[in-house]
Amino acid sequence: MKSLGIGVIGLGAIGAKHVSMLKNLREANIVGVSDLNQDLVNKAIAGTDIAGFTDYRQLLAHPELEAVIVATPDHLHKDICIEAAQAGKHILVEKPIATTVADGEEMIAAAKAANVKLMVGFTLRFVPHYVQARELIQSGKLGKIISVYSRRMNIITQADRLGGRIGVLHFLGIHDFDLLHWLLGVEPDQVYTAESTSVAKRYPQENETFNTFKFKDGTLVCAQIGWNLTTAHPGGRDFKLTVIGDKGSLDIDLASQGLLMYSEFGSKFPSTAPGLDVEDKAFIDCVLDDKPVPATGEDGIIALKMVLAAIDSIEKDAPVKIK
Ligand SMILES: NC(=O)c1ccc[n+]([C@@H]2O[C@H](COP(=O)([O-])OP(=O)(O)OC[C@H]3O[C@@H](n4cnc5c(N)ncnc54)[C@H](O)[C@@H]3O)[C@@H](O)[C@H]2O)c1
Repeated sequence: MKSLGIGVIGLGAIGAKHVSMLKNLREANIVGVSDLNQDLVNKAIAGTDIAGFTDYRQLLAHPELEAVIVATPDHLHKDICIEAAQAGKHILVEKPIATTVADGEEMIAAAKAANVKLMVGFTLRFVPHYVQARELIQSGKLGKIISVYSRRMNIITQADRLGGRIGVLHFLGIHDFDLLHWLLGVEPDQVYTAESTSVAKRYPQENETFNTFKFKDGTLVCAQIGWNLTTAHPGGRDFKLTVIGDKGSLDIDLASQGLLMYSEFGSKFPSTAPGLDVEDKAFIDCVLDDKPVPATGEDGIIALKMVLAAIDSIEKDAPVKIK
């Protein structure tokens, strides 16, 4: 069986999850990992023969490394990805591709110049509920799509964990914005975003928003994006999607995920939906079989433009075209 020599750069919340997923994938040969924090490196490599580095350049120089997952904070994606491309490594970069369109475009150009694959980690494209929703929409069974409502909410501790490093639209909104573009198969045209101001913000960035998009075919979308659920919420997340077409409609509820657990510690909605493992496998398969990646750098740029236009819209209190 073919396997891919792969590494992970950034071993924080999501990087550590990638390492766990890769450890269970037979196609993945984890060559090495890197984080500035030696404790996180030690934790990831404990009991294995995976090499650990605090300098990612040493990982990039590893002779068996063929591909990397870049899971550092958003503003650090660009330089690491460009160096990885120049070292001839295929790249799966976490969302958002970068913090500016210019940075994202430089990353795409570097990957093209080095003839390596660049995939963006849009995990929702690999969650079975959304995959089925897309199949239904694209098959025409719902008819012409009229409107979509999507909701992605986290608990407030997520905002506290990130501590103002990034706002909710870069962190969560980008997931839904890419999802909407991918589900509808149409590009967004404009957005009007409003932000709640009823409660003082803990961090300067946007934190609770309604984003009203018009897509180029006239479809109307409202995406409610925030991270103000209290810690009492049994799932710590509330994800919903409703699609209305002229021949049918669909609803997805990924808050409860159909499972409610009761115990002496309280009640909880455990997460049951796969996603990250499927995403990592899809990336590895694309590299091994030399197939196009299912979420391209260009897709990353479109979603990023949607985020940046939404933030601009909050500042202007007016609809903004997405160019
Ligand atoms: N797909 C998803 O569902 C999902 C979920 C969470 C985060 N993310 C994305 O993943 C990225 C990381 O987010 P996070 O929440 O895991 O952040 P985090 O702060 O928990 O972890 C980032 C890690 O990167 C390390 N790092 C920073 N500079 C480095 C360098 N030069 N070399 C090696 N390591 C370095 C830090 O030490 C830290 O451990 C972000 O882009 C975020 O948007 C995606």
